[in-house]
Amino acid sequence: MRILSGIQPSGNLHIGNYFGMMSRMIGYQEEHELFCFIVNYHALTSVFDAPRLRQQTLEAACDFLALGLDPEKSIFWVQSDVPEVVELAWLLSNVTGMGLLERCHSYKDKIAKGLTPNHGLFAYPVLMAADILLYGSHKVPVGKDQKQHVEVTRDIAISFNNTYGETFVLPEPEIPQEVATIPGLDGQKMSKSYDNTIPIFCDEKALRKRVMSVKTDATPVEEPKNPDGNILFDLYALFLDADGRQQLRDRFLTPGLRYGDVKQELFEAILNYFRPYREKREEYVKNPDVVRAILKRGAEKARAIGSEYLDKARRNVGV
Ligand code: ADP
Ligand code: NA
Repeated sequence: MRILSGIQPSGNLHIGNYFGMMSRMIGYQEEHELFCFIVNYHALTSVFDAPRLRQQTLEAACDFLALGLDPEKSIFWVQSDVPEVVELAWLLSNVTGMGLLERCHSYKDKIAKGLTPNHGLFAYPVLMAADILLYGSHKVPVGKDQKQHVEVTRDIAISFNNTYGETFVLPEPEIPQEVATIPGLDGQKMSKSYDNTIPIFCDEKALRKRVMSVKTDATPVEEPKNPDGNILFDLYALFLDADGRQQLRDRFLTPGLRYGDVKQELFEAILNYFRPYREKREEYVKNPDVVRAILKRGAEKARAIGSEYLDKARRNVGV
């Protein structure tokens, strides 16, 4: 099975990205054909600073490699190193109804949050469809925020196949319930766009500050706390097994629990969980040429596969 997913280099990668997508992707590399890439064309919808985009692209690659993505067992590259994807996006645009894009929640949400919409943001799902279809992907591990975009990809592929003849594989999203939407510090979806993240890798002081600012309710210490829908509970649960979760639930329901203590434990849990990867990440950060070489080799492999699908699509539309 061919599994593909990408991540935007639009800010520091966070634990929502990690549990929602990265750790699952890394787990798939042993058994499947894994396609993993840094989607810098997509980040252009919100990043307008070239040095920053370059830096964040490199750092996202360091994060993935440090966390265990193995370039020998997967295809790992930067989106713009296979520019064929943009040509495919144009071919797909002409079988994509305006209504389909106008219904996309992600676009509507971002506008509601005050982002100035540009055409790139509106057409984002078409480029994402090209990302997925260019490589004949079967499965796309994503968070719930991306479910609709994968469905749009299917609709576009069906529309293309109906118009021009069988060309593309129809992909499916893969979204486990427990990690569908990881909440951010404020309880909204954790996202690089909302400044509500807990980064995977940042210095201890900054991490502590982030964790201490997780929003909690005003239940007095001497009263029981409701774990359901509690942001702090949901975040800590990511780092616990089933027994640990049950114990935490019991502690919430017992009068006397202090949110400040739980925050301190969560801070330590995050540090401990990612500690083994920190050193490896530093190695990659100190050797950017090694990382660039890995990405370049990945792009060559991706391009060889992508250009076959693009050629077929070009032939089928008549260019
Ligand atoms: P962001 O919203 O932080 O910019 P991306 O758009 O780069 O994240 O998403 C990268 C991957 O991480 C996608 O598969 C997305 O579904 C997943 N993801 C992002 N935020 C979350 C979250 N809060 N919970 C679960 N998955 C998430
Ligand atoms: Na593999």
